[in-house]
Amino acid sequence: MKVFIGYVSLSGNTEKMAISIKNRMKAVGCEVYMERLDTVEVDALKDFDLAFIGLYTWNLEDVPYEANEFYEEIDQVDFAGVKVALFGAGDLTHSKPCAAMDILSDKMKRFGFDVYDRVLKIHHESSTYEQLRKCEDFAE
Ligand SMILES: Cc1cc2nc3c(=O)[nH]c(=O)nc-3n(C[C@H](O)[C@H](O)[C@H](O)COP(=O)(O)O)c2cc1C
Repeated sequence: MKVFIGYVSLSGNTEKMAISIKNRMKAVGCEVYMERLDTVEVDALKDFDLAFIGLYTWNLEDVPYEANEFYEEIDQVDFAGVKVALFGAGDLTHSKPCAAMDILSDKMKRFGFDVYDRVLKIHHESSTYEQLRKCEDFAE
């Protein structure tokens, strides 16, 4: 299985989640490609069996600026069947925790992506044993 992991992370929490997912997918024999989202073209996701996309949230109303181009590129209607799973770190006590993930999910669904119903939202710190375990379970 060919898996893509794209993410943006400022203080490193979402990045740790990405690494944990990568390790798990590799351990079960997947071919894994990982990149920061600001260097990724959305079209490239069509070449993978599954894409994990990770975002932090810093402002209720926006996707992070490094993901802007990726977000804007989702403007075609032929992404049907492209499978995506979303993850990210945020403040789970917030009124709309990890809102950037929900904004991206809504747009991806509108353009045909097959977005997994289950998303992984981690509260701030993602390096505890329990948090990393959650990432691995999610990957599985
Ligand atoms: C200025 C600032 C604004 C934030 N705004 C939000 C927010 O609107 N919603 C949310 O869920 N988390 C918010 N957070 C929490 C971050 O998403 C959280 O610290 C996350 O772990 C950052 O991920 P990263 O380490 O991958 O950059 C905010 C954090 C900061 C410092």
